[in-house]
Amino acid sequence: MSKRIVLEAVASEVRVCRKCSLWKSRKNAVPGEGNPDAKIMFVGEAPGYWEDVKGKPFVGAAGKFLEELLAGIGFSREQVFIGNILKCRPPRNREPMPNEIETCTPYLDRQISVIQPKFIVTLGNYSTAYIFSKANLAFTSITQVHGKLYEATVLGLPVKIFPTFHPAAALYSAKYRKELTNDFQKLKGVITLF
Ligand code: URA
Ligand code: SF4
Repeated sequence: MSKRIVLEAVASEVRVCRKCSLWKSRKNAVPGEGNPDAKIMFVGEAPGYWEDVKGKPFVGAAGKFLEELLAGIGFSREQVFIGNILKCRPPRNREPMPNEIETCTPYLDRQISVIQPKFIVTLGNYSTAYIFSKANLAFTSITQVHGKLYEATVLGLPVKIFPTFHPAAALYSAKYRKELTNDFQKLKGVITLF
């Protein structure tokens, strides 16, 4: 079966999923989307207001900034895969709860296993903590680990993990805007090496 068909099957399950209580308050689940053969996969935290309305990842203000960052390194949304730790929006955008992460991440794991990306770029604390745990890497804080490349094994696949801040952090902070822009320039450098 082609990668695209397997990813569509995962997305179809996600759209009707009721495995945790977040289904009750969602308008639309957000399975994630992008190129089934993506070399780079971006992993965010959870859908926000507009993602929940549209059923698509990173389509609000943070998404606009992510698109700018991608353009800055010569990529379009269509060339990469963009997903999240949680597929449904937590009420009032509260932080993900441990049981929700545990219940939802098998979907992300299946997406990673199908796509087999060379690079996983983790956006923010929750995403980085989750992928680091899958890689058996010690996670301290995003401030400590951002902007560096970690060679690891995730779900049996050799993968390079590049953590950075969540683009939403940049919306009201010039400091994070600069940090993210710098990190993406570093990312551009390492991508061209592989
Ligand atoms: N923030 C996220 O972490 N994911 C989205 O899809 C949108 C905003
Ligand atoms: Fe299912 Fe994940 Fe949505 Fe919970 S957040 S209902 S596990 S898709």
